[in-house]
Amino acid sequence: MSKYNLGSACAVISGASSGIGFEIARILCGKYGCTVIGLARNKEKLDRAAERIGDNFIPFVCDVTSGSERADLLKYIADHGFKPDILINNAGILPPFSHFSPEKEDELEHVMELNFHAHVKMCSAFLPMLLKSDRGAIVNVASSAALASLPGTAAYSASKSALLSFTQSLSLEYSGRIFVSAVCPGMTATDLFSSHEGASIIGKFAPSAEKAAKKIVRRLRRGQRKIVTGADAHLMSIGNRLFGTGALRFFSFFIKSVKLPIFKNTFYK
Ligand SMILES: NC(=O)c1ccc[n+]([C@@H]2O[C@H](COP(=O)([O-])OP(=O)(O)OC[C@H]3O[C@@H](n4cnc5c(N)ncnc54)[C@H](OP(=O)(O)O)[C@@H]3O)[C@@H](O)[C@H]2O)c1
Repeated sequence: MSKYNLGSACAVISGASSGIGFEIARILCGKYGCTVIGLARNKEKLDRAAERIGDNFIPFVCDVTSGSERADLLKYIADHGFKPDILINNAGILPPFSHFSPEKEDELEHVMELNFHAHVKMCSAFLPMLLKSDRGAIVNVASSAALASLPGTAAYSASKSALLSFTQSLSLEYSGRIFVSAVCPGMTATDLFSSHEGASIIGKFAPSAEKAAKKIVRRLRRGQRKIVTGADAHLMSIGNRLFGTGALRFFSFFIKSVKLPIFKNTFYK
């Protein structure tokens, strides 16, 4: 495992206006003197992020699921002479926990489009630029849901598992040319749960985005190709590896037993 040098790198981060992406951007700009081109859809939120981080953070409105907006981003980068070293595909959505049903097909497509296809398309758009850098890197933010599927998260788990598999193949294929890493955070207190009823519980026990981002950046610097953060993510990973479906059924039993409002639509009745 060789160390990754972040110093004064140029990074492109999707989902940089809040949560984990924002905190990673803040650390890269503040501690490592990086230039970060931060992407998100909501301009006001992005501008607020820029105000908090400072001049090294360049806000750029871009819905990464849109081909034309990705093309605008590439043009902006070329026109301004930026030479990206790192691409961090972090934007993501998690629909409220709910069991899968035929009406959920549109939701599944939407989740796959952002959490998987958009990141794959960003990778292919940026690969030529990253190959020109002497420290090209791709970091894809998957989830603990890629390490063990939980009930109520079928679409999300599928999208994150696809992203993890894609990232691991890429890491082997481009070994020695581009550093490729997959990040699997456990539950983290962010706006990801803002549309979930009863989500206040997350803030009570989950670590902050700042804490998660610090761990992620530290491990990126160590050159880790798979980064798992959070006690729940480690538990899910170890449980699934050691006990397979037995562990998944135990986690599911636990979720059913706690009867928290956030999980109320998780099981088919
Ligand atoms: N929080 C957790 O417990 C947790 C656990 C495991 C994995 N993760 C993963 O970590 C990543 C970051 O999530 P977070 O928890 O930090 O969530 P968050 O606070 O909700 O941040 C999501 C970010 O993505 C942006 N975004 C959403 N759709 C986008 C699109 N189509 N194009 C560009 N940007 C878009 C959002 O801004 P706009 O809405 O303005 O576009 C926002 O900046 C996600 O991939 C998530 O799945 C989170």
